[in-house]
Amino acid sequence: MIKSFILKYITLIIIIFLWQGCRQQATVGEPYAIQKVARSSQAMVVTAHPLATEIGVEILERGGNAVDAAVAVQFALAVVYPIAGNIGGGGFMLIRDTSGETSALDFREKAPMAAYRDLYLDSMGQVVEGMSITGHLSVGVPGAVDGMWKAHQRYGRLPWNELLAPAVALASEGILLTSQEAAELNAEREVIRTVNAGPVPFIQDIPWRTGDRLVQTELGATLQRIADAGRDEFYLGETARLLVRESERGGGILTMDDLAAYEAHWREPLIGRFHGMEVISMPPPSSGGVALLQLLKATEHYLIDRDAGTCVQTVHLMTELERRVYADRAKYLGDPDFVDVPMQILLDSQYIIDRLRGIRLDTVTPSSEIQAGLIPGYESDQTTHFSILDADGMAVSTTTTLNLAYGSKVVVEGAGFFLNNEMDDFSIKPGVPNYFGLIGYAANAIEPGKRMLSSMTPTIVVDHEKPRLIVGSPGGSKIITTVYQIILQTLVFGQDLPDAVAMPRYHHQWRPDTLFVENGRVHPDTLEQLRHMGHRVVERTPIGRVDAIWIDDNGSVTGAADPRGDDSAKGH
Ligand code: DON
Repeated sequence: MIKSFILKYITLIIIIFLWQGCRQQATVGEPYAIQKVARSSQAMVVTAHPLATEIGVEILERGGNAVDAAVAVQFALAVVYPIAGNIGGGGFMLIRDTSGETSALDFREKAPMAAYRDLYLDSMGQVVEGMSITGHLSVGVPGAVDGMWKAHQRYGRLPWNELLAPAVALASEGILLTSQEAAELNAEREVIRTVNAGPVPFIQDIPWRTGDRLVQTELGATLQRIADAGRDEFYLGETARLLVRESERGGGILTMDDLAAYEAHWREPLIGRFHGMEVISMPPPSSGGVALLQLLKATEHYLIDRDAGTCVQTVHLMTELERRVYADRAKYLGDPDFVDVPMQILLDSQYIIDRLRGIRLDTVTPSSEIQAGLIPGYESDQTTHFSILDADGMAVSTTTTLNLAYGSKVVVEGAGFFLNNEMDDFSIKPGVPNYFGLIGYAANAIEPGKRMLSSMTPTIVVDHEKPRLIVGSPGGSKIITTVYQIILQTLVFGQDLPDAVAMPRYHHQWRPDTLFVENGRVHPDTLEQLRHMGHRVVERTPIGRVDAIWIDDNGSVTGAADPRGDDSAKGH
């Protein structure tokens, strides 16, 4: 008994040591001061941009709660972080209020009513390259404005227009571009130019440089209209008309009826237990919560009950679990308003144990040998996350997206904002990978008015009735494994949150049968050992971008902003 305890303890230390060894230093952007780690005894805001973080803190200082701050941050990000922040996209917001009640707000985009299963296939049944990714046909009905409105209606303390005012000011006066933002805009310049008919503020004659001012006059006016008249302005008013005119101009299929019919939904959050704590996450139409809970439940059979082994063995084990969970995702998950997602079975302990059979600790199971689990009777890289805690203990975890960088690249003429390309998150043809390499089948086929399956995983971990961790990430298919990794590193391996956030990440999604690791960040010996076990290891650009908050037993709060971007944390 004592021997096994000591063995586990030593194993844990080895794992922490090896994971630490993989770490590298952050790069920091300018022209705004960026704080990667912030400490506070009360409240915290962590977002992808220092100006948005600042606005969140200001709202808290003025007496707003975490939801007020989240609404203000969402609108601010639409201005200061146009690559993913949005009013033309959608997302999910997870809220835990001061009484411990939790709610999950789904403001995911929907397929327009004129969309149909084979929308992106040619007459031969082949996928038309790029059609679901770039331009007007790739756009889903945006959900962000109704989402913010519903969150504010239920929880808000400060007046709606006060929450939009900072974003209006930043859009009209302009923001200074960080080096990362300048580079990202330059990288997409040609596509943005091609997709849009007239001039847009996001391109200028010469390439952007760090510190250049980006002024978004039309967006400022749009936000002012929404501030004055509320969500109806976006779905029924002037903005709706501009949006539909833009869609028609570019051969899109969005109509006034689509916008008028849009509703964000309150859903039951998914709650599971891990390591003695409560893990609260997003239900479908995100696959994030289901997949994360499957991964965590499966993990308990190894890291808790059995010897975890070395760093390589831990990565190997995580990979083996991930391939099985993503195989289930591909088959069973979709919009619960359209398909029957077998949630109870997917999260059933016996089902999960059955799925672990066949895992070997010394070698891989090729993905070709793995299928989704058998369920009787069943037929069938740019997003952004922010985490907020207010002084009363209300926690908000929000992931929001246009899907890819600047979404469809379409800017609504006269209204100044980017439209999403979320339609690519549907399975546009059975078994054909989407941008993120994810495949799907009937459960995630296109249907009019249906929400496309997501991987966004805003999560709150609660320990003894108190929030412990607020976490989430962008990264498409890699979101789930990123959140999984942060939870393991903090809750199981006992790492400090900032260390966990900075660590190199690993990812496997069943298909392709590839273990992705962050470029140049993992020791060659580790890669060699993984390859030796049979993993097809591929190094790639950064995986995930985590903005998270950790709350200690004594109530001290740590905000950790991901070193991979301009992300910034600030306490209050
Ligand atoms: O909802 C999803 O799963 C994707 N549209 C998220 C896209 C994303 O994270 C891109 N970021 N790097």
